[in-house]
Amino acid sequence: MTNSVFPKGFLWGGATAANQCEGAYNVDGRGLANVDVVPIGEDRFPIISGQKKMFDFEAGYFYPAKESIDFYHHYKEDIALFGEMGFKTYRMSIAWSRIFPKGDELEPNEKGLEFYEDVFKECHKYGIEPLVTITHFDCPMYLIEHYGGWRNRKMIEFYERLVRTLFTRYKGLVKYWLTFNEINMILHAPFMGAGLYFEEGENVEETKYLAAHHELVASALATKIAHEVDPENKVGCMLAAGQYYPNTCNPKDYWQAMNEDRSNYFFIDVQARGEYPNYAKKQWERDGISFEITDEDLQLLKENTVDFISFSYYSSRVASADPSLTDKTAGNIFDSLKNPYLEASEWGWQIDPLGLRITLNTIWDRYQKPMFIVENGLGAVDTPDENGYVEDDYRIDYLREHVKAMNDAINVDGVELLGYTTWGCIDLVSAGTGEMKKRYGFIYVDRDNEGKGTLKRSKKKSFDWYKQVIASNGTELD
Ligand code: BG6
Repeated sequence: MTNSVFPKGFLWGGATAANQCEGAYNVDGRGLANVDVVPIGEDRFPIISGQKKMFDFEAGYFYPAKESIDFYHHYKEDIALFGEMGFKTYRMSIAWSRIFPKGDELEPNEKGLEFYEDVFKECHKYGIEPLVTITHFDCPMYLIEHYGGWRNRKMIEFYERLVRTLFTRYKGLVKYWLTFNEINMILHAPFMGAGLYFEEGENVEETKYLAAHHELVASALATKIAHEVDPENKVGCMLAAGQYYPNTCNPKDYWQAMNEDRSNYFFIDVQARGEYPNYAKKQWERDGISFEITDEDLQLLKENTVDFISFSYYSSRVASADPSLTDKTAGNIFDSLKNPYLEASEWGWQIDPLGLRITLNTIWDRYQKPMFIVENGLGAVDTPDENGYVEDDYRIDYLREHVKAMNDAINVDGVELLGYTTWGCIDLVSAGTGEMKKRYGFIYVDRDNEGKGTLKRSKKKSFDWYKQVIASNGTELD
């Protein structure tokens, strides 16, 4: 790592998502959402991937998002802790069904709007700039049951109403917006990413791309409206990133890796360049995928590209053309072979800081737009002492190496990076597994996988470490 400093005004902070931290799932008029009805346990993946139907709470399951860490009633205390760490930004998301409980109403729910207004004001008290994800995996259940989720074009209209409401109400309070969290997750966890449940015999691939088209158009429309309402607004797309490496130097492995990467960059190609890439159009032709794309859609996409590219990065991935290779990484929603050169977390996610530098360079070379790392971190089992203190040197080590990789990408390679928000800056429910035990935070929350615990917050060792990183603008990492 060079000794260079991070750019002035670099946005250090942390990230959460509404459904993974707010709880209060039925408070102040909030409607039921897809993310509420995904339980912990072995049925979780079949449900989030749209293979198993669960549209309501069922007996015999535990639903962690119902209460989560109850940020809804603890936000003042939590934001004060973020302020103490010196956060410059806090990435959070809006629960759509707090604002429009069913999703297709004409008038928003004032209580929901008030809640987020209070949260944003609280952030500004500490000089924290909110970075708001408009939809982080959530979709009102009513829209799924009555309209079929994002496979329905009407969703664009409902989303438009949502964003217009948000941009107007929070003008002056929020400047940074992300339209859809990990938009490429539609392909891997479509119930979570787009409220899709597949009926027997349905053309699953076609439905996923149809829903993706609707989200892409909605995202472009949101970008347009954001700029109209306030020219100060900056809108970003959001990708679940992580470079694919070829398993060997066999050109067929390289080709496979390139195509895996393209299946993810496809979304950002549209959001950042404003048009569908030829490789996707050709692929759809070969696969017999077709759906309505209007001239107005194409114009909207073309004229409303994003201001910056945000992404999550946890690991690189490995692809091979050889289907007999089956030694996959455990736990990760994305399909990847194991990389023998890398260590892995307790959940089998492989650790690759250089992969972050590679990913930053690839995205920069592809789009030349400013980037924002909005998720990165280590999910680990923490063992607190009697005061709730955790000696999480493993987390510090993980983050330190990734900060160094970022520094290299900025100062050695010359990429443009706006900020860095670590995932789950306060312990919260895991999206992939529904566990509380998989912790990412600088702040420990006393709650377990069964929902037991006092919800007491306490600082981990990494709390003071990150505070020092921010205070020194990334120069003091030990
Ligand atoms: C990203 C999501 O996929 O990874 C987050 O945007 C999620 O919502 C994070 O929590 C970490 O994944 P997990 O499964 O460990 O919670």
